[in-house]
Amino acid sequence: MILAITAPAQADEARSARNCTWCHGTAGQGFTVAPRLAGQQPQYIESQIRSFHDHTRDNPFSKQYMWGAVASLDPGTAQELARYFASIAPKPANDGDPALIARGRKIYQEGVPEANIVSCYACHGPDAQGVRDIPRLGGLSFSYLKGRLDQWGRGYHSTPASPMPLVAGSLGPAEIDALASYLSFVR
Ligand code: HEC
Ligand code: HEC
Repeated sequence: MILAITAPAQADEARSARNCTWCHGTAGQGFTVAPRLAGQQPQYIESQIRSFHDHTRDNPFSKQYMWGAVASLDPGTAQELARYFASIAPKPANDGDPALIARGRKIYQEGVPEANIVSCYACHGPDAQGVRDIPRLGGLSFSYLKGRLDQWGRGYHSTPASPMPLVAGSLGPAEIDALASYLSFVR
């Protein structure tokens, strides 16, 4: 009986998720410029859908791909899709430079006080798994992480109260490469 009730609901979710997975890859594991959604914090997914919808997340790829994709998405469907993607086990991209892992891990955990770079650990968690509207970073692709960290430093926005423009503003290209490399390997 339970199966008979839940199976059609899951089939519905999978069907509406297909509007997303043709860009975000099979099972939401990410594909080219569209990041992995699998295993992402559901509250974060919803907060980003709102920022695309309200046009506060304003970098070029967001404008080009996501403003339209969520324009007619109602909050109920957004919540279902967020839960659906969050429930899929994430696979790490493993595509950064392995030689930069140690440097990236050190910045992630301790920051660089003399360069005014804060640690990421306090907010994103010990395994970069995120919590509530703070995203999981572990295993996202190198180029996506690098792009995001670089764009905040150049004045793009995401959610209105995001601490990230301030945090990323102190990162130089070498720190961004190290952090994005390290994080791409975190499971
Ligand atoms: C036409 C391709 C395309 C479609 C369709 C699409 N996306 Fe996206 N999505 C992208 C791209 C590209 C980005 C990265 C934007 C950036 O670089 O800031 C993105 C980013 C996101 C993000 C932000 C993830 C993060 O880690 O910050 C979420 C959440 C998201 N999409 C959800 C969805 C959902 C839900 C759907 C289906 C309703 C969907 N997307 C459909 C291309 C697409
Ligand atoms: C004060 C808490 C805080 C600190 C410290 C912090 N972050 Fe964040 N981070 C957030 C929040 C909240 C978001 C979601 C932002 C939004 O919606 O704009 C975020 C988003 C991100 C994203 C976007 C992920 C995605 O899927 O698009 C990246 C990348 C990121 N942070 C990297 C870092 C790195 C690297 C550091 C350390 C140098 C760091 N953060 C420090 C709170 C923090």
